[in-house]
Amino acid sequence: MTVLKLYTYPEPVLKKKAQKVDKVDDETRQLLDDMLETMYADAGVGLAAPQVGVSKRIVVIDVEQEDDEEGHFSKGHPLFLVNPEIVWCSDEMVCGEEGCLSVPQQRAEVERHAQVRVHYVDYEGKEQEILGEGLLAVCLQHELDHLDGILYIDRISRLKRQMIIKKLLKTQSSHD
Ligand code: NI
Repeated sequence: MTVLKLYTYPEPVLKKKAQKVDKVDDETRQLLDDMLETMYADAGVGLAAPQVGVSKRIVVIDVEQEDDEEGHFSKGHPLFLVNPEIVWCSDEMVCGEEGCLSVPQQRAEVERHAQVRVHYVDYEGKEQEILGEGLLAVCLQHELDHLDGILYIDRISRLKRQMIIKKLLKTQSSHD
């Protein structure tokens, strides 16, 4: 498995609507494996294909991974989602702080549905459905947004968004 390059704001691929996957083949599985490795390497709970520069409707999530006090990392329960689609969401909303590997070192409060039901195709190419609550619900909505070219900073106030973008571009230019 390979750790892939992460694409960060304002890379154009992050603003594009990603393409549906025709078939889960070995190439798709390779990408899913590499994306999972990349997500763990960067201590993220979710990653969407556009974040590694691939404009396809593919997402990996693991909200149960753990780092113990000695810094030992353990895989939790990885989810591989191909062509995921929200088929139901609760009226109840929740507000929580989010970050994103494509918007490094920034966080903001985002409003999301408390529960979502998502239909998707799994690693083996089988149709599946999952009901997400809590962190999983938030993560599903955040990652599925990436497939439509939406970042969490697009869901906050204009003022907060401008503040984050300013800080982000400042850190990026100081690295060059
Ligand atoms: Ni993200």
